Amino acid sequence: MTSPPLKVDTRITLNNGIEMPLFGLGVYASNEGQQCKNAVRWALDTGYRLFDTASLYENEKSVGETVRESHIPRAEIFVTSKLWNSDHGYDNTRWAFDESMDKLGLDYMDLYLVHYPVAGIRQETWKAMEKIAASGRCKAIGVSNYLTNHLQELLANCNIPPTVNQIEMSPFCYRSRIDTVNMCQEKNIVVQAYSPLVRMRRSEHPSLKKLANKYKKTVPQILIRWSLQHGFSVIPKSSNQARIQQNADVFDFELSDGDMETLDGLDEGFIIDWDPSVTE
Ligand SMILES: NC(=O)c1ccc[n+]([C@@H]2O[C@H](COP(=O)([O-])OP(=O)(O)OC[C@H]3O[C@@H](n4cnc5c(N)ncnc54)[C@H](OP(=O)(O)O)[C@@H]3O)[C@@H](O)[C@H]2O)c1
Repeated sequence: MTSPPLKVDTRITLNNGIEMPLFGLGVYASNEGQQCKNAVRWALDTGYRLFDTASLYENEKSVGETVRESHIPRAEIFVTSKLWNSDHGYDNTRWAFDESMDKLGLDYMDLYLVHYPVAGIRQETWKAMEKIAASGRCKAIGVSNYLTNHLQELLANCNIPPTVNQIEMSPFCYRSRIDTVNMCQEKNIVVQAYSPLVRMRRSEHPSLKKLANKYKKTVPQILIRWSLQHGFSVIPKSSNQARIQQNADVFDFELSDGDMETLDGLDEGFIIDWDPSVTE
């Protein structure tokens, strides 16, 4: 049986039954105010329905305002935020969630993620995450930057498993992170690819340029399509209208199995952001 073609608003079902769009907009480094509001509005106009913010990004207010001001039913839009590292612990986590909710100004959050597996305090934090999930003010809870050891510890001690693990993912680190990807897929945890464009640090790579030519697409579009074809949720960031549109124009072509293999083979253990392997 062949699966239906991917679309900009294709949704997947998380392990708690909630549906999440596969594709979305990251807003890290989109400045609070007009820059972030424009980005979210242009993305909504283009068909994006998932927005990835965090208390760290200091733009939850702009994301929430733009979602509220849009005439799109709230249920069609999926908003993620994240618990910052200094807010771990049972009470702090609950306060931090309330603060994010105040800033968003929404009736509920769709997904709340532990931003990073801060050592020594993760279990108390997760208990609070479970409490938040039970309150109904957040539809799903998950983690970010968790590698296999962090996931194993969490899965052995939780009542509610994470729905999503948001990790840095691109062809340049895929094989190095394959154990984490496999564990997530075995445990029915969605892998969400952050920094999927490697912040454009590999945009001149000859293999990427060759594939871009072959498919008459851009290098970012090849990278986004690669993530989607691996079944990853993917959240490229842009604050530019044309690039927001370009990044969503990835649903009219398909990378061949051979070209997926070529891309998988570009691994050089390269990550641009956190290295959680240093955290026990
Ligand atoms: N959980 C975590 O720890 C974590 C860590 C990092 C990121 N994230 C999330 O993942 C999202 C994406 O990752 P990221 O922001 O690190 O990096 P990214 O999406 O890999 O790259 C973003 C950069 O690429 C540029 N860009 C985007 N589309 C482009 C295009 N079509 N052509 C040329 N340049 C383009 C953007 O500039 P312009 O804006 O000028 O277009 C920006 O400088 C973040 O926004 C955030 O939501 C999460």
